[in-house]
Amino acid sequence: MSVVAIISTKGGAGKSTVAVHLAVAAALKKRRPLLIDFDKRQLSVLLWAKGLRKKARTPAFLKGNIETLAADIAVASRRHDLIIIDVAAGGGDNVRDIASIAEHVLVPVRASAFDMSATRNTFDLLRKSADSTEPVGIAHMNALGKAAIVLNCAPKRQSAKWRAELEDALQDCGGDEAPIIGTLSDRCAYSTAIENGQGVTEEQDDPDAVAEILDLYDGVVALEAKRAEKIRTMRRRK
Ligand SMILES: Nc1ncnc2c1ncn2[C@@H]1O[C@H](COP(=O)(O)OP(=O)(O)OP(=O)(O)O)[C@@H](O)[C@H]1O
Ligand SMILES: [Mg+2]
Repeated sequence: MSVVAIISTKGGAGKSTVAVHLAVAAALKKRRPLLIDFDKRQLSVLLWAKGLRKKARTPAFLKGNIETLAADIAVASRRHDLIIIDVAAGGGDNVRDIASIAEHVLVPVRASAFDMSATRNTFDLLRKSADSTEPVGIAHMNALGKAAIVLNCAPKRQSAKWRAELEDALQDCGGDEAPIIGTLSDRCAYSTAIENGQGVTEEQDDPDAVAEILDLYDGVVALEAKRAEKIRTMRRRK
């Protein structure tokens, strides 16, 4: 069971898009995902799940409450094996607490210079958040250590020059410690699928979008596998 928090202090970075599509892809892969919506102002995930999706049974969803989050995760772990938390834009103690509790933090970053520099706040927040995950033996120095980047709204064709500039920009905003585990191009398929109460992996209208989401899901699975291997190694040494 893993808890993956989708965090960016910047509004409109793609948090809810990533959360919803990742959960749908996980269900397709026979995981038992639970989506927790922590965006009180918008409740995007709940609107999608309750208003647009209607009869679909997966993914399950829950309105987030920071007071009960640890207990909610403990209860959910009996029925779910992947918990995806959609976090509101902006910072604050609640976001730090969620970053601290989650095993993995995904930071969607829009691939433009403007958005990149605004992402500095997100990386600062993660650097200032503790990693309170168990076992303590493999905990990171801070939540930035368990963060990975999802590049969002990337151009469909990416030149080597574009990539080099992007890496420079990530370094400038302090995000170069985090690996890039997925790239979503700028595609209307993502918003269209959500408006239809679906994920692109269900609608299957845009095979390139499907491939991007499945790659991202594989990236998350690779993070989970790396963590599991660290735990096994630590236990063998004991
Ligand atoms: N890869 C993409 N291609 C095209 N449009 C996208 C993409 N990702 C997100 N969008 C659009 O950008 C807008 C913002 O995305 P989203 O709601 O996922 O961001 P967010 O980080 O959750 O925003 P907020 O901070 O307001 O919660 C939405 O209209 C969404 O449909
Ligand atoms: Mg959102």
